[in-house]
Amino acid sequence: MKLLITGISGLLGINLAMESMREHEVIGVDRGKLKSAPFQVVRADLTHGSVSDSVIDSTRPDWLINCAALASLEKCEEDPVRARNLNTDLPGELGVACAKRNIRFLHISTDAVFDGTREGFYTEEDETSPPGIYSETKLNGERAVQEANPGAIIARVNFYGWSLGGRRSLGEFFLNSLSEGKPVNGFTDVIFCPMLVNDTARLLLEMLRKKRSGLYHVVGAQPMSKYQFGLEVARRFGLDETLISPQSVESSSLTAKRSHNLWLSTHKLSTDLGHEIPSFSTGLAEFYTQFKQGYPQKIRSYQQGSIPSR
Ligand SMILES: NC(=O)c1ccc[n+]([C@@H]2O[C@H](COP(=O)([O-])OP(=O)(O)OC[C@H]3O[C@@H](n4cnc5c(N)ncnc54)[C@H](OP(=O)(O)O)[C@@H]3O)[C@@H](O)[C@H]2O)c1
Repeated sequence: MKLLITGISGLLGINLAMESMREHEVIGVDRGKLKSAPFQVVRADLTHGSVSDSVIDSTRPDWLINCAALASLEKCEEDPVRARNLNTDLPGELGVACAKRNIRFLHISTDAVFDGTREGFYTEEDETSPPGIYSETKLNGERAVQEANPGAIIARVNFYGWSLGGRRSLGEFFLNSLSEGKPVNGFTDVIFCPMLVNDTARLLLEMLRKKRSGLYHVVGAQPMSKYQFGLEVARRFGLDETLISPQSVESSSLTAKRSHNLWLSTHKLSTDLGHEIPSFSTGLAEFYTQFKQGYPQKIRSYQQGSIPSR
């Protein structure tokens, strides 16, 4: 298949490209961060007028996966107009464009559409209640896609992994700090379901291959606090876990409101795909193996200004 990935320089985009390249022709939309990537790259700012249409017409993909977003909660609060352009309007436009051309569309949403006030897990059927601009614009993005393209897949995700800049994911945050001997805080009152981004990527491709459509939770199967996640990463990499202090998110310096419970059920996904979701421990083991095998350096070498890795 020919696969067009928007947001290719992002944490999900770059890892999705690495996973897809094994079987598919990959074309990524980039704003200028990449060079010498092992796949085709198209330069475009997707918030400019009818750029999405022209990128799609010039590349003519079979599948389009939209990973472009304004994914920082703080930046969304600072610039709600940009948040709406990227998180709501763009997904709707891409949904229309794909529907018109018979291209299979997969849009990436977020686990953060829930306010996290319930005990226990959330299913795809549960009512949403976005706590801030990021989650509100992402939820409106889901709605825009559902309206424009009912055959689309919408995946609510949460992942960690190796990023282009080396600082994007929570896994990298703990590793960078702990390996420099820096003390960090870990939130004990934010529950989430982290998944290795490469597992996320492989599941998304499987969903396309198996012709799924509709809304899915594509997150890890094991809920844990961000503090617990930090401890797990420290232990796997043999770093000093005592540098991580348990803290409440309410006493942090983060300004955007965060949900306390983002435990999402993956029952629908595992039932429809016909197998279990990869476990947290296998994902973490792969994260460690990637580190040992130089995967982070390989990814970073695709950035402008870096030395290509062999
Ligand atoms: N990280 C997580 O755990 C997490 C959790 C829940 C949901 N998600 C969702 O997963 C998706 C991917 O997230 P991520 O963590 O990979 O995000 P990310 O690393 O911030 O990447 C966002 C991507 O969007 C691109 N982009 C931004 N503005 C653009 C524009 N005007 N035109 C074209 N491209 C533009 C960025 O390009 P530049 O590099 O040029 O800025 C980047 O490639 C998003 O939909 C996010 O909401 C992520």
